[in-house]
Amino acid sequence: MRFGALAVMLRRVCIGDTMATLHLGQVLSFDGSPFDEGHDAVWHERRGALAVEGDRILAVGPADAMRAAHPAAEVIDHGDGLIVPGFVDAHAHYPQTGMIASWGKRLIDWLNHYTFPEEMRFADPAHARAVAGRYLDLLLDHGTTSVCTYCTIHPASVDAIFEAAEARGMRVFAGKTCMDRDTAPEGLRDSAQSAYDDSKALLERWHGTGRASYVITPRFSPTSTVAQLEALGALWGEHPDCLMQTHLSEQVDEIAWVKSLYPSARDYLDTYEAHGLLGAGGLYGHAIHLEPRERDRLREVGASLIHCPTSNTFIGSGLFDMGGLTREGQIVGLATDTGGGSSFSMLRTMAAAYEIGQLRHRPLHASELLWLATQGSARALHVDDRIGNLAAGMEADFIVLDLASTPAIAQRVAQAGDIWEALFPTIMMGDDRAVTSTWVAGRKR
Ligand code: GUN
Ligand code: ZN
Repeated sequence: MRFGALAVMLRRVCIGDTMATLHLGQVLSFDGSPFDEGHDAVWHERRGALAVEGDRILAVGPADAMRAAHPAAEVIDHGDGLIVPGFVDAHAHYPQTGMIASWGKRLIDWLNHYTFPEEMRFADPAHARAVAGRYLDLLLDHGTTSVCTYCTIHPASVDAIFEAAEARGMRVFAGKTCMDRDTAPEGLRDSAQSAYDDSKALLERWHGTGRASYVITPRFSPTSTVAQLEALGALWGEHPDCLMQTHLSEQVDEIAWVKSLYPSARDYLDTYEAHGLLGAGGLYGHAIHLEPRERDRLREVGASLIHCPTSNTFIGSGLFDMGGLTREGQIVGLATDTGGGSSFSMLRTMAAAYEIGQLRHRPLHASELLWLATQGSARALHVDDRIGNLAAGMEADFIVLDLASTPAIAQRVAQAGDIWEALFPTIMMGDDRAVTSTWVAGRKR
């Protein structure tokens, strides 16, 4: 951290707060993106402190200076624990919680065989409420404090996740999944008009309420008619401050299917672009098998590509081109894609991103992996000024990691020469046991 910024923050602690809490531990925060600036973009303090007042971060700095600046603060000492921003999962399907790790199918069969039957159960609002609560508790156990999730076609599934998020104080992005083509099963279809009407009503009910953000959600072009894509494109045009999420170029078979359903489209992206569904607030999940024109357009508009590495290996989709896409300036977020993804853990997700990077000869540094799981995903969701980092004025969503949470990790960390060697074993081998505590809007969950 630059010294001037630290001085300003310390001054704020001295003058402004009366009820601050000081969290002591190792602290790691970002001054920029390690993809652009290397790991100089990261500030690490072996004995650091995070000052929190209410739901906000007041200051970040060395522990001794922070204690001296704020002698009346309540002190919570996390020992050797590493305080980092809460993880931000930029693409998930909370209704698939119950069928995660379903065996042996590739995308289209997997959807038909496992996913759609599971999503039909959400016609029952009580079921939706039960899964929504269980899902968010699992996320908090794994250190994820924000998620952008698909719901099902049932409006009550959206109410369920936002109500569960509200009860836990979490910043959550969610939207009603829209499907009106006969490629989706009966019982899991809406219409162009009802998708527009229900999405609009949910958006008006939830968007900007507390920490809720509504996301317009056409599942993917194979399960929508042109009329539905157009209706949702129009809705997005009327509410440009909302994000829009969908799937793009996940599997080769899927791309061939899209070509057969949309014969006049130039490519997969064009099925969205032609109907008002390409823009800076667009979140395109997977984005593996992209054509040059698609890459150009995504970069030109500043859309977000969401990398879902455990899903891409689990369903057998392919190897995301992290090196090429970040080099050309694409905005990339990181996500579990549960239940196509095989884990709720963003640590496991970082490990899978590393492994895919290796297969593509671009080994991601621990600082890049952590950035993707926090600031990178927050940037993809257009909230990097609020969450995904530890800095004065940001929302106090953070976690404490135990960097020696299992004997296997501990024996490796005993030989670590610096913070990156100490963190990387937890990224590669850690799970919810590494998450000592999770703090949402300043409160322990
Ligand atoms: N494409 C369309 N729907 C889905 C889904 O639920 N999961 C994944 N991984 N891909 C999809
Ligand atoms: Zn998905």
